[in-house]
Amino acid sequence: MASRKKIIVFTGAGMSAESGIKTFRDSGGMWEEFRIEDVATPEAWARNPTLVLDFYNKRRKQVMDSQPNEGHKILAALEKHFDVHIITQNIDDLHERAGSKKVLHLHGEIMKARSSVDPVLIYPLKKSDIKSGEKCEKGSQLRPHIVWFGEMVPEMDRAIDLATEAEIFITVGTSLVVYPAAGLIHYAPAKSLKYLVDPGDFELSLVKDVRHIRQKASEGLKQLEKELLTIK
Ligand code: APR
Repeated sequence: MASRKKIIVFTGAGMSAESGIKTFRDSGGMWEEFRIEDVATPEAWARNPTLVLDFYNKRRKQVMDSQPNEGHKILAALEKHFDVHIITQNIDDLHERAGSKKVLHLHGEIMKARSSVDPVLIYPLKKSDIKSGEKCEKGSQLRPHIVWFGEMVPEMDRAIDLATEAEIFITVGTSLVVYPAAGLIHYAPAKSLKYLVDPGDFELSLVKDVRHIRQKASEGLKQLEKELLTIK
């Protein structure tokens, strides 16, 4: 049997929009309601950890109450025919719950907590809240396992390695403005097939040969799945 083609899928907030999770920069998005510097930076955490915990506790509750959408399910189903690797900027676990087996989270995972003194101490969460006073085994307050603005993106090197191996590179639902993640597409080989599934408008002149499917994730991926199955 011929080896399966490698698909790298790079997802952003738009991937989970149809599951009812707000994006960040669309009209009515998260960053209209909250200021990044109040809730999503190391300085915010140092200044007011309770506010930061509360912000992520609410988001965790929402993720726990949400379900994977058709788009997540299509990506999981593609594993039957392709070697699919998902690189997501999303902190939700909807790709995993849809059945995707290889998911790399660039910006952390809401369903995990971690020590605020030792980044290797990471704990899965089964409940919605991290409470003030809940500590890691070294005695420091637990924080959400999230990459905040101004922090390193520890998984970026792995993501770049994956992108360089893409035969097919699919970007879904991201405004491509937050770096370093947004630069990932530039590592996809020139000869790889590149697609962008997003209903928004884009200036794609910097990236050659990207086919923009201007649809929501569920519709766009349904259309793309049909095409991909003809070239598997
Ligand atoms: N299907 C596909 N795409 C959609 C849908 C949908 N149903 N609805 C909206 N979109 C698209 C928008 O057109 C936009 O391009 O999703 C994108 C959302 O962009 P952002 O809100 O900027 O989200 P994202 O690109 O994931 O943000 C990157 O910024 O603050 C952060 O850390 C956070 O990981 C996040 C990062």
